[in-house]
Amino acid sequence: MYNIAVIPGDGTGPEVVREGLKVLKAVSEKYQFNYELTEYDFGGERYLRTGEILPKEGLEELGRYDAIYLGAIGHPDCPPGLLEKGILLTIRFELDLYINLRPVKLYPGVECPLKDKGPEDIDFVVVRENTEDLYVGAGGVYKKGTDDEIAVQESINTRKGAERCIRFAFETAKARNRQNKVTLCAKTNVLTFAHDLWERTFYEVSEEYPDITADYAHIDATCMWMVKNPEWFDVIVTTNMFGDIITDLGAMIQGGMGVAAGGNINPEGTSMFEPIGGSAPKYTGQNVINPIAAIASCQMMLAQLGESQAADSVERAVVEVVSNKMVTMDAGKMGHSTTEIGDLVVQALT
Ligand code: IPM
Ligand code: MN
Repeated sequence: MYNIAVIPGDGTGPEVVREGLKVLKAVSEKYQFNYELTEYDFGGERYLRTGEILPKEGLEELGRYDAIYLGAIGHPDCPPGLLEKGILLTIRFELDLYINLRPVKLYPGVECPLKDKGPEDIDFVVVRENTEDLYVGAGGVYKKGTDDEIAVQESINTRKGAERCIRFAFETAKARNRQNKVTLCAKTNVLTFAHDLWERTFYEVSEEYPDITADYAHIDATCMWMVKNPEWFDVIVTTNMFGDIITDLGAMIQGGMGVAAGGNINPEGTSMFEPIGGSAPKYTGQNVINPIAAIASCQMMLAQLGESQAADSVERAVVEVVSNKMVTMDAGKMGHSTTEIGDLVVQALT
């Protein structure tokens, strides 16, 4: 019996979460496991109605679930960053979800913007550090609004934070057992304090994994290779800010935001799963957004809960639908509505 917290959130979040939960229900009946859902209304609407962003008790409660399933956070009528920091980043930090795991996998039949690249070339995962770096909010602003304004935003990097993230990346490469390679993506030629720490930690940890190749690429080169030779990558491990950027690039080469899923993982605690695309306010309520990313996030949640057969079943169904039943991954042009795609995935479950 799994206790799952659901945060549908803002914009198109609720629409795609509904489809993910439809698939969860169907796959639970097939593979015979039980779960209970508890919904939380955190997000822009609640904030605009009550002034409350994320109550302390709510946060504590979230930490007691087996998993959290999230739609999207971000509302056009709220000040920029308020909800993102107050809800999404607060959950990541307070529950110590120190890994942001983002698979970049091109499924057969999905349109890829890279010329001459296919599913055999694009299959890697990004292990993004999720609790440090520029995201900590360290620094400050002085003399704001004057000609003498000074803004400092510091990147915080700890040995512990880097080490646990890097170790997770090596374990991921070992479990995948594909190229058995981990690439550290950093900027050691410029960030000679922070990324020196990362680089030393990386090669020290790599000694514990003699069967896995430890590889290095600068962030700018990583962007280039992701477009030119994505087949070189197996597992990329990187810092929070760089990971944020390259996973949007990754989403594009795997077919778009409509398919990109992610897990905010605390291997020793509660983890949270979300499509990485955001709340897409302009599509809200139109039943046109692609729910595949949310369904794939549900698949990652099942894998994390230990329901690997159910997770594999969802992935097979997703592959079947995206390769045979959808025109493109783009919102509104998929050939089916949001709800129809959810139904198609349910029908394709084996
Ligand atoms: C993501 C998002 C968030 C991030 C934003 C909404 C704070 O872009 O999950 O990638 O920067 O981590
Ligand atoms: Mn992002």
